[in-house]
Amino acid sequence: MKMWSGRFRQSLDPQFERWQRSFDFDRRLLHYELAASGAHARALKNAGVLSADELIGILQGLQQIGEMAAASQGSVEDEEAEDVHHFVEKQLVSRIGEVGYKLHSGRSRNEQIATDLRLYVRAAIDELRSELADVCGAFTDRAEQAGSTSMPAYTHLQRAEPVLVAHWLLAYVEMFLRDADRLADCRKRLNVCPLGSGAVAGATLSLDRAFMANELEFDGPTANSIDATSDRDFVLEFVSTLSLLGLHLSRWAEEMIIFSTQEFGFVHLPEAYSTGSSAMPQKKNPDLLELVRGKTGRLIGGATTLMITLKGLPLAYNKDLQETQQPLFDSADTALGLLPQVAGWMKAVEFDHQRMNGAAQSGFMNAWAAATYLVNRGVPSRLAHEQIGKAVKLCVDKNCELQDLTLHDLRTLNPIFDESFRDCLQPSSVLAIHDVVGGTAPARVRQGIAAARKKIDSLREEVNFHAHA
Ligand code: ARG
Repeated sequence: MKMWSGRFRQSLDPQFERWQRSFDFDRRLLHYELAASGAHARALKNAGVLSADELIGILQGLQQIGEMAAASQGSVEDEEAEDVHHFVEKQLVSRIGEVGYKLHSGRSRNEQIATDLRLYVRAAIDELRSELADVCGAFTDRAEQAGSTSMPAYTHLQRAEPVLVAHWLLAYVEMFLRDADRLADCRKRLNVCPLGSGAVAGATLSLDRAFMANELEFDGPTANSIDATSDRDFVLEFVSTLSLLGLHLSRWAEEMIIFSTQEFGFVHLPEAYSTGSSAMPQKKNPDLLELVRGKTGRLIGGATTLMITLKGLPLAYNKDLQETQQPLFDSADTALGLLPQVAGWMKAVEFDHQRMNGAAQSGFMNAWAAATYLVNRGVPSRLAHEQIGKAVKLCVDKNCELQDLTLHDLRTLNPIFDESFRDCLQPSSVLAIHDVVGGTAPARVRQGIAAARKKIDSLREEVNFHAHA
């Protein structure tokens, strides 16, 4: 039986009927639909709408549906179910008889789908944060293993200053930790329960909303029934956060692709994550990285789809909202699929320390350190800049580096230069002068690694807390 056929004289056009269904994709919400239905049934019993026996029958029926779904690994089939809500009602009635229809007393699918989606996003956030902790752990391990290896840091994709490889890797950890934090923030805001909001105006039975919220581990009931049944901000916030995560991952993928080219040669692509060419026998391609970069487009597409779907939608529930589900599921699946790959790749990749160190020691990347030498001797910064600039020009003419210039050459630029100048040009001295919080001086980077580990540990603790709550 349909959930709404009473007032209709005509049956639906069969093609339209099939086309408008959401069961194909919303059946993945079954677990949450059953949980929410259980909470609603208990509230109905407390409100005196269901007898104790009826409640037991309904709860047993719901449990059997859950067991059936578990046995079929969640891939439940039904040729007629319009959506997951209809499916549960049909199943329940087929198991416990007409009393199953009582479950829908005083509720609407509008509040149900809003609740199911919140539960789904909440669980996806917990899973993603756990994956992010693994990714951050993998990056931090590699940072630690990189030890004192340095590399050029680039601005404008031109060699700028040497940094520790560890410092570079920790930059990504910061991005991913912010993503994890944004997900936590989204979780905090979404964790309220729409049950009892009815179709738009609030339940027609005196249901204890705080009780239902508590049953489902929400922080409390939503404040306004019109908003609760039409709000999908949490879906958009979640998917937007994932598109930002994707954006970070795509920057990482792009850098790794560039660094793995023969021109750079900083990164040896792990064979376990690369493929060859069917035509060119010598090729080893960075497939994982390219797919990560490509899938970011899907995540951004998901967020864009949601924004356009929600724009201009009058209050409250409109069937357009059904269209928010697929971009949500696709984005969550895409992100959840990506992260373990990224962690695996990071564990397997080999950095060419020799090449990286070599690149960090040529191309005048010690020029700022050279200017700092003069500044420390009282030369105004602008003049120091100018004088070292001239020294670089001299080097370009002589095809050498700053450390190769003679004291005589240097003194034509400024008589203040002495023998100690060469020491300040050493790679270790160049790194050491960046001795500020967040700088690349080795001691600061060691602190950075320790701080990252701490943040990752507390991320893991939070995730475990939710998993066992
Ligand atoms: N399948 C619907 C959706 O996902 C459930 C809500 C239907 N509500 C309605 N008034 N037709 O949006």
